[in-house]
Amino acid sequence: DWTTSNVVDEQVALIREQVGDKQVLCALSGGVDSAVAAALVHKAIGDQLTCVYVDHGLQRAGESEQIEKDFVAAIGIRLEAIDAEDQFLTALAGVTDPEQKRKIVGREFIRTFEATARKVDAERHIEFLVQGTLYPDVVESGGGAGAANIKSHHNVGGLPDDLQFSLIEPLRTLFKDEVRELGLALGLPETMVYRHPFPGPGLSIRIIGEVTRERLDILRAADLIARNELTAAGLDRDIWQFPVVLLADVRSVGVQGDGRTYGHPVVLRPVTSEDAMTADWARLPYDVIERISTRITNEVDEVNRVTLDVTSKPPGTIEWE
Ligand code: XMP
Repeated sequence: DWTTSNVVDEQVALIREQVGDKQVLCALSGGVDSAVAAALVHKAIGDQLTCVYVDHGLQRAGESEQIEKDFVAAIGIRLEAIDAEDQFLTALAGVTDPEQKRKIVGREFIRTFEATARKVDAERHIEFLVQGTLYPDVVESGGGAGAANIKSHHNVGGLPDDLQFSLIEPLRTLFKDEVRELGLALGLPETMVYRHPFPGPGLSIRIIGEVTRERLDILRAADLIARNELTAAGLDRDIWQFPVVLLADVRSVGVQGDGRTYGHPVVLRPVTSEDAMTADWARLPYDVIERISTRITNEVDEVNRVTLDVTSKPPGTIEWE
């Protein structure tokens, strides 16, 4: 029967048997899957695991600190944190096309991860790479849920041939809610375990227009207010995702105090969903929306208008880009 402690014990034994005294690498994204996978592997083999976190500068407020401080404190892993903000922002300079942004972030991520993996590999020869693949991903790619959680020298997307590792996928038989239970049992902070999904390209696809440091700061400030008010209202678990989007190339006239303003609008995009394939706009209580709107326009100087996206998916996607 399924209990978290059974699953933990089973996976710990399996990972120990498969890894032996070899060294293992894991990339943390900030998401729950990679965090739980890393915590599980760490429980099994301790310091034979090295985690890598590439900080691309496109995270929301507090997220890098959560990984670099809270997660490390909770689990006690060895972490290589790479500050790559300048590199990503330079690569994104002048780019407005959504798919172009995705390609650039993906390319820079692989580049940075590869360099770091090479460095760690030179220090302690790495044999295995942990991935937080879940059962629905396995089914989607036609893999089936076998008992084995290691795939041999699977071609890890984007890494060169001389840097290929065997994959450890300890979450291969699990669904998301089971992964969350496991995360709590392993001592991860609740804020991490119940984090909403967040896209790999991060805030770069929530700034409509060119991505700059200044625009990222504006968006992070607005996004933090929206997230905090959602949490304060106790609604985190009723919502699938709550993107806040900065219409950076749009300006509108406003008035504040005695003065005319000419600022940017943000869009609130709270949605409900089961699997992100379809979604509905979330009917958040008006008083919550009002608090978010008032606080954003009061506290974020460059934003003078807050709008609500009332489009379902389809026809709208969850993200704006
Ligand atoms: P859309 O906008 O297509 O998003 O309705 C569906 C889900 O996927 C996430 N998303 C991404 N995740 N890389 C990712 O890792 C991406 O490029 C990307 N684009 C969208 C989105 O946040 C939602 O959960």
